[in-house]
Amino acid sequence: MPNAASQPAYNYKVVRQFTLMTIVWGVLGMCTGVLIAAQLVWPALNFDTPWLSFGRLRPLHTSLVIFGFAGSAQFAASYYAVQRTCQTRLFSEGLTAFTFWGWQLTILIMLVTLPMGLTTTKEYAEIEFTGAVWMAIVWVVYAIVFFTTLTRRKTRHIYVGNWFFGAFILVIAMLHVVNHLAIPVSWFKSYPIYSGATDAMVQWWYGHNAVGFFLTTGFLGMMYYFVPKQVNRPVYSYRLSIVHFWALITLYIWAGPHHLHYTALPDWAQSLGMVMSIILLAPSWGGMINGMMTLSGAWHLLRSDPILRFLVVSLAFYGMSTFEGPMMAIKTVNALSHYTDWTIGHVHAGALGWVAMITFGALYHLIPKVFNRASMYSNRLINIHFWLATIGTVLYIASMWVNGITQGLMWRAINEDGTLTYSFVESLEASHPGYVVRLVGGLFFLAGMLLMAANTWLTLRNQQVQAIEDREPSHAH
Ligand code: HEM
Ligand code: HEM
Repeated sequence: MPNAASQPAYNYKVVRQFTLMTIVWGVLGMCTGVLIAAQLVWPALNFDTPWLSFGRLRPLHTSLVIFGFAGSAQFAASYYAVQRTCQTRLFSEGLTAFTFWGWQLTILIMLVTLPMGLTTTKEYAEIEFTGAVWMAIVWVVYAIVFFTTLTRRKTRHIYVGNWFFGAFILVIAMLHVVNHLAIPVSWFKSYPIYSGATDAMVQWWYGHNAVGFFLTTGFLGMMYYFVPKQVNRPVYSYRLSIVHFWALITLYIWAGPHHLHYTALPDWAQSLGMVMSIILLAPSWGGMINGMMTLSGAWHLLRSDPILRFLVVSLAFYGMSTFEGPMMAIKTVNALSHYTDWTIGHVHAGALGWVAMITFGALYHLIPKVFNRASMYSNRLINIHFWLATIGTVLYIASMWVNGITQGLMWRAINEDGTLTYSFVESLEASHPGYVVRLVGGLFFLAGMLLMAANTWLTLRNQQVQAIEDREPSHAH
């Protein structure tokens, strides 16, 4: 048993805070998702109220789940992993606390302004100028805390998970600042400095890399820490992880134009985006394989460990959505899929299957550790959560595939005389059953999220305190 006095005291307070807020924003963001899914089944659910309208709630949903839920999860995981793999406490108490409160304020600004209709209209970058400046300040402080902590490490190497967290932090700072360059005319109205096709290109360079870095790279950092930890084995290949890192970050940045196929963007740029997206399959699958193979010889653990199930199934969905994405980036495939629910299905294969599932696995692993409990209150509840989340995701994406392909085919069907075979309303009617199934899938997923909240609450109330353990080996590998 390690000597408690010799341990570096980690700053777990901020990890606890971000963990709890991940759950809070997850519940709220998913409730909003379920509400807008219900509005697509019963449009009257907006009650003729502007702030309950689909157009305002949709960006609220994306902001709450991306920045509130996924953002807080990455703060929690990166702060936890960087301390343990570097064997040192987070740099600066004050700055660390500032990142927590500053980030929560950012999400609150979104929560208030988006339903009011205050928006830049740029997807995933809707927060208006003043809020965006505040967000940039918080992010720079996050970078200072993270990188200074790295420089104070007591270990020789920088564990690969931290490379991914570091790239996530740096690239998001660059994307956010460049895409938000604007001329403010009041506190809550600004106009971008770009116009026309340039504006669209900058926006989708941002949008795609927001997916690549906010919804992928940070979570890969999470994978590299929590998968080896949960199976208690070194990562499958350290060499592959380095190749994976450099290939992923150098390729992602070129793929943005696949969001603008058949638009005013120059044709060569569209083709470049397509080719880069196809190549992106290789590092994506390299990463997935590295995570999966970490389980070699320990697959039997999946039978008894629901936390590991979350982690492994998230990798399977990561593999699936990073196969689907490159396919959808092919121009002729995109001609069918673009504007349809297929895109929405792809998004949620990544968002529910990958981002949310790996977050659940990681949080179930760290909650007992940072709250000093022997384990989560109920393993059975984790298992039920796992099945609700898996079934919910499958219902969501399968219904959106059916809807997307139906819509794409109906829109392009033409009669012999060149007129359209179907009116738009007919394609909407054909989509209705799919919207009902998606709503059911969403309710499953939300129910699982609520179970997690309950399980966490019960864990915190549980007074049985864990004997202090937790001296970390210098590397997770
Ligand atoms: C209970 C779970 C969820 C439900 C029911 C749900 C539902 C929805 C609905 C109905 C839309 C609008 C689709 C449309 O415009 O036709 C949407 C969009 C979106 N959601 Fe979710 N969502 C859920 C969870 C999540 C999570 C956890 C994330 C991210 C981590 C996420 C990310 C997104 C994104 C990025 C979009 C915009 C997609 C696009 O513009 O192509 N959602 N969601
Ligand atoms: C190799 C990896 C990937 C590639 C090449 C890729 C490619 C694509 C393509 C071609 C589209 C459709 C663009 C359109 O027609 O408008 C798309 C949309 C999208 N993808 Fe992926 N994808 C990948 C992985 C992922 C992952 C892992 C996630 C989530 C975690 C994700 C989230 C999204 C989102 C949110 C959109 C919707 C953007 C919007 O229109 O609002 N993608 N992706």
